Parts: sequence; C-alpha cells; structure tokens
Amino acid sequence: MNRFIALIVGSTAVIASAIAVAQDNAAQTRGKLVFDNYCVHCHGTQTHNSGATTMLEEKYAGAIPGSLEQRTNLTFEFVETFVRGELGMAPYRPTEIPEDDFADLVAYLTRNNP
Ligand code: HEC
Repeated sequence: MNRFIALIVGSTAVIASAIAVAQDNAAQTRGKLVFDNYCVHCHGTQTHNSGATTMLEEKYAGAIPGSLEQRTNLTFEFVETFVRGELGMAPYRPTEIPEDDFADLVAYLTRNNP
C-alpha cells in the first residue's frame, strides 16, 4: 500500500513538473512573438546590422553577445528597466505590452540563463 501511495506521489510530482515545463515553454513561445513584434527590428540577430544589436556588440566588445536572444544573463528587472523606459530606449507602455506579455517576453529572453 505504501508503495502504491509512493508511486502516486511520485507520478504526481512528475506530472506537476511536466506541466511546469509545458507552461514555461508556452510562455517562451508567446514571449518570442512579443519579441518579434516589438524588439526584433532593433535587436535582431539575422539582420546583423540592426542598430541595437550592433550598439550592444560595441558596448560589450565580445564579452557577452550583442543579441538579446543569445544572452544568458538577462533578468526581469534589467529588461524592465529598458523596456519601461527608465534608460536609453524608447519606452513601451503597459497598454502596448501588457504585464502578462512582458512576463512572457522575459521568459523567452531568460530561457538560456544557467
Ligand atoms: C527602436 C529600436 C529599439 C527597439 C524597437 C527596442 N530596443 Fe532595446 N535597445 C535599443 C538601443 C539603441 C539600446 C541601447 C540603449 C542604451 O544602451 O542606452 C537598447 C538596449 C536594450 C537593453 C539593454 C541591453 C544592455 O545590455 O545594455 C535591453 C534589455 C533591451 N534593449 C530590451 C529590449 C526589448 C525587450 C525590446 C522589445 C520590447 C526592445 N529592447 C526594443 C533599441 C531598441
């Protein structure tokens, strides 16, 4: 009986973590759409010459990638500082990128973090 309960508890944990992974993936997929809609024309990787990617390549001089999509050190707070307009970049109001979309965007941009 105890084994049976352990099996159920173990299975539930596996299912719960599978659901968590699926939710992460869904957020990242939605976040990529937000990125492609609002960010890619300046922060793109394909268009190497896109302004912000080139600027950030110069700023970091090879220490970290200029492309936001290839970074592994972005955080919610750091992205928020730029996207909500406290530094440098033109701001995006919550009416343009609502909080839910912003959370998905950050899920996408932080997906490679260690
Ligand atoms: C019109 C062009 C443009 C668009 C669109 C744009 N950015 Fe930027 N972004 C820049 C420029 C230029 C910089 C460098 C600004 C600076 O260093 O002051 C920058 C800097 C940043 C940085 C700081 C990177 C670093 O390491 O210093 C982050 C994070 C960022 N942008 C996120 C985003 C996100 C997320 C979006 C989409 C919601 C976005 N940006 C849309 C032009 C843009």
